[in-house]
Amino acid sequence: MDLLRFETLDSTNDEARRQLSQGCAPPFGVVSIGQHRGRGRQGRSWESPYGTGVYLTHVESAKRLPKPLTLAPLLIGCGVADWLNSLGLDVRLKWPNDLRIDGAKIGGVLCELHGDSLLLGVGLNWSEAPIVEDQPTTSVFDHRRDVLGLSDAQEGLHRTVVSALSWWKQRGNIALRERWWGLAEKTPLRSGAIIGEPMGLADDGALMLRDATGAVHDIRAGDVEEVN
Ligand code: BTN
Repeated sequence: MDLLRFETLDSTNDEARRQLSQGCAPPFGVVSIGQHRGRGRQGRSWESPYGTGVYLTHVESAKRLPKPLTLAPLLIGCGVADWLNSLGLDVRLKWPNDLRIDGAKIGGVLCELHGDSLLLGVGLNWSEAPIVEDQPTTSVFDHRRDVLGLSDAQEGLHRTVVSALSWWKQRGNIALRERWWGLAEKTPLRSGAIIGEPMGLADDGALMLRDATGAVHDIRAGDVEEVN
């Protein structure tokens, strides 16, 4: 599987769009050692200092993927969490796909549709964690120093994303929702005015929260916050 390597980019997701516009056909991956305009979910930026993180976008033809595509970012969160855990970490998922250790963010997933192509962007804090306002952060090296170097980590992450997609094709949506739930943090959460216990994922990947009255709400947009 092609993996296009760069020193620095604005954003691997933006480079993937350029590659598609120039005729590069999916599937392929783009990695960069640094990004100067890394993007996160909800219009946030993704701090991407040179040489300290893994920044990957894998591009897949949407036609070749199971549906709904709203499950794709959740799948990628599962694949990456399981891969990091196989390296000796203890990563959990906060809906939809924040990768966290003890509440500190170690990575995230940004999926975007470009024409018929799905861009699956993953950022991981590898040797250092950038300081981010209002969000504790951590890195792989904060927990294990005897793991892969950056170049091997880029390849390992790309392989992980590709094999997660083929797992989804073979196993389907119910297995995916169960896999996500097995990795999920299960503390009470708030979404706007709703506070509840997470119950699992709805068919389309919405988070089901059960409030104090027993009513179940499907959360589809935005972020959820922990309730202390
Ligand atoms: C999040 O907000 O948690 C998602 C962060 C996703 C960051 C990755 S780094 C590689 C790819 N390129 C980007 O500009 N963003 C994603």
